[in-house]
Amino acid sequence: MLGIIGAMDEEVAKLKEQMEDVQVETRGAMDFYQGTMRGCPVVVVRSGIGKVNAAVCTQILADCYGVDRIINTGIAGSLNAKIDIGDIVLSTDTLEHDMDAVTFGYPLGQVPRMEVLAFEADEELRVTAKKVCERVLPELKVFEGRVVSGDQFVSDQDKKNWLVEHFAGLCTEMEGAAIGHTAYLNGIPFLVIRAISDKADDSAVMDYPAFEAKAIEHSVTLLLALCEELKEKESR
Ligand code: ADE
Repeated sequence: MLGIIGAMDEEVAKLKEQMEDVQVETRGAMDFYQGTMRGCPVVVVRSGIGKVNAAVCTQILADCYGVDRIINTGIAGSLNAKIDIGDIVLSTDTLEHDMDAVTFGYPLGQVPRMEVLAFEADEELRVTAKKVCERVLPELKVFEGRVVSGDQFVSDQDKKNWLVEHFAGLCTEMEGAAIGHTAYLNGIPFLVIRAISDKADDSAVMDYPAFEAKAIEHSVTLLLALCEELKEKESR
């Protein structure tokens, strides 16, 4: 069973429309849509925004649905001049940019007393997603690298510079690392797939509403094709 998490209704609404044999359960004030998508058994859920919502949601997917893979889909702000609005970022790993225990000798971003700085995404899922993305969205560029998450909408050039300088991430959003962290604790492979809606700088407030819908459309197209590919891969 594949768990698919989007933070906002807009990010999961189109996916839910494509599902078959749907059963809905509400847990932790979140609606879990269990069924199939392009023949692939899935649970689709809107987690709500931010790291706590995302972590709770991921734990419910682990405990109540026994998911063996998790994909986080949605939009993000670009942290790299080469990555444009509409382009796709696939996570190699994820990190909580607002975790700071530097006082105790930990690098910025590392959760104290955990052995990893960043949570590594599943390589097989990433390679498959890249292949599918190049096939179904050939006009877009797809990038692989670090996704940094925090409880902050980044819309300020200074904050963006700080993130780039400290973490070398490709994009920033508000859930991916919490999902990666929870998946790591549960030993579940995960991947964050984000379409870029803004540049996470002073233009973000204007760009975000203008490009949100387009970016969501890209991540939905990719997710549907990826489900089809995963289903085919399993039957091979
Ligand atoms: N999601 C989309 N754009 C974002 C940004 N600039 N900061 C945080 N989350 C985002």
